[in-house]
Amino acid sequence: MDTILSTPQMVVEDRERNLFRVSRRAFTEESVLEAERRNIFDHCWLYLGHSSEIAGNCDYITRAVGGRELIFNRDRAGAVHAFLNTCPHRGAMVVREKKGNALSFRCFYHGWSFNVNGRFASRFDEGNYGKEHYSGGCADLAQVPRLECYRDFWFVNFDKNAVALADYLAGAKDYIDMVADQAEAMEIVGSGQQYVINANWKLLAENSVDAFHGFPVHNTYFDYLKNIGSLRMETNAGHFNARGMTDLGNGHAVIEYQSPWGRPIARWVPSWGEEKRPLVERLRQNLVQRFGEERGHRMAEYSRNMLIFPNLVINDIMAITVRTFTPDAPNKMTVSAWALGAAGEDAELRKLRLFNFLEFLGPGGFATPDDQEALENCQRGYKNMREVGWNDISKGMPRQGQPMNDDEEQMRCFWRQWRQRMEGRMEGSRVGGLVGVA
Ligand code: FES
Ligand SMILES: [Fe+2]
Repeated sequence: MDTILSTPQMVVEDRERNLFRVSRRAFTEESVLEAERRNIFDHCWLYLGHSSEIAGNCDYITRAVGGRELIFNRDRAGAVHAFLNTCPHRGAMVVREKKGNALSFRCFYHGWSFNVNGRFASRFDEGNYGKEHYSGGCADLAQVPRLECYRDFWFVNFDKNAVALADYLAGAKDYIDMVADQAEAMEIVGSGQQYVINANWKLLAENSVDAFHGFPVHNTYFDYLKNIGSLRMETNAGHFNARGMTDLGNGHAVIEYQSPWGRPIARWVPSWGEEKRPLVERLRQNLVQRFGEERGHRMAEYSRNMLIFPNLVINDIMAITVRTFTPDAPNKMTVSAWALGAAGEDAELRKLRLFNFLEFLGPGGFATPDDQEALENCQRGYKNMREVGWNDISKGMPRQGQPMNDDEEQMRCFWRQWRQRMEGRMEGSRVGGLVGVA
């Protein structure tokens, strides 16, 4: 019997008893990962890249998304494409570089060539191939079934019947707007970071919007900020002033809070020096002028950690990090992270932004190694799952009204969506009936 089918319930929500539990088998079993690949990664909108990464005509990057190898590029006219990076001849990856600029792509194995709009472009001697060979696009690079963009964030979907990206993003759009509107244009800075965590990918999805772990795990960072004069609180000294957690629909969620650290977009802290203060104040005034007092203030002062189901995180905190993570095995994921900044921003603020990006969220920074240890430690703990088989994600369930940002409602949003997709209850999902509901 299939191991998943033999388990009647993998995500259990009991509203009467305020209990929400997830089976540790969801983090450990190969059959669960295979079902996730078919039910989630084959049907959800997955982040591919940002417009600024292929700013010029004929620019390209290659990227692994949803278990595929892709080419993300602009053609000679500037139109954006996403191709499956495999040669229609015998399968070799046509583009092997991470990024570049090219007028055409040439497969190194036997030399088949393609225009940057994907069209087969080799000329072979007549007689070697039949007439049909060039018809119907069968010698062209295959396009990803769906490619759509919201505010310069490009997503792919391997399900041609998927709902439009704008509908899928639901309430997340307003929060993406708050990032995209921070300057006339935003851009990815540098090439980003890639690292491996020996833990299930869903542990990072949870962790990315988990304010509960902030103080126990990242104490060293907060002490350090305090010691160098990089903490400034307007109210509630010593506490994070929460706006709370918001369910954005479709498994997406965000936590938003007034944070004590500096934000290069428009929040000055003493460690930056008095000379930087007027510039940051001008940026803040500019936001207020463009978006009004309430929203401008919120954009400048508040930090946001957002999870877009299943595997995109946008952290608009002391810098902006765009992060995705892809499962390689039940206990292993590859994480990619990029810094997003205001195009043309002041060089000193750019330096601060990148420093903040590395200092807290970089793989050698204050947060990521600690988070990595926490996640890998959970995964090691799951070796005991035959005796202790369930995670508890119930914090804040009895609370009426707005959930706090250190409650666990944002993870429950993720898991409800996971359960629905794994059961095949979503439009366009494979019908699997894999997991039971409480
Ligand atoms: S595999 Fe690409 S040309 Fe043969
Ligand atoms: Fe963390």
